[in-house]
Amino acid sequence: MRRPIISLASLALVTATACAQAEPGPLKDYDPPLDPAFAALIRNADLDAGAAYFERKCSQCHDGEKDGGDFKGPHLWNVMGRIAATREGFRYSEAMKQVRHAWTYATLGYYLKNTEAAVPGRDMNFAGIDDDATRANVIAYLRTLNDAPPALP
Ligand code: HEC
Repeated sequence: MRRPIISLASLALVTATACAQAEPGPLKDYDPPLDPAFAALIRNADLDAGAAYFERKCSQCHDGEKDGGDFKGPHLWNVMGRIAATREGFRYSEAMKQVRHAWTYATLGYYLKNTEAAVPGRDMNFAGIDDDATRANVIAYLRTLNDAPPALP
């Protein structure tokens, strides 16, 4: 009688499946890559348009001034590079506390595209910015709200 043997090929397949990057889903289980085309949009962003969009759509809840503070949403000065939900003194949702990623071009791009899909149960009453160029403009502007803006992608 022949003993059943597991072929190397099927072992490799199991390993590959286990190591494969998780499907796009909530940020708490997913580390989104930075799409090169989106990075290029950020490099070539229209900062004035980003600032104007922020003023119209974000500033009702967020302060972006260096010496500002929390409002309905947390203070966004220095948000890039900060771990999600760690602005001291702000009461974040449980959902946001579970994200545990730093805010980068990739994570901000993913969150701001569809906030509820990225952080289900989040406490931010803003659906998202579907248009890539507009979202890139806003993220390029957020980058400037920083003591030491990170390098462009
Ligand atoms: C209606 C109010 C509201 C609007 C409009 C809004 N936000 Fe927010 N935002 C919040 C709240 C509240 C939170 C905290 C969410 C939580 O704890 O789930 C938040 C969280 C965030 C965070 C995570 C901050 C951290 O410290 O982890 C970022 C980044 C952010 N908002 C960016 C934006 C941008 C950019 C816009 C405009 C495109 C925007 N928000 C529009 C209320 C708002």
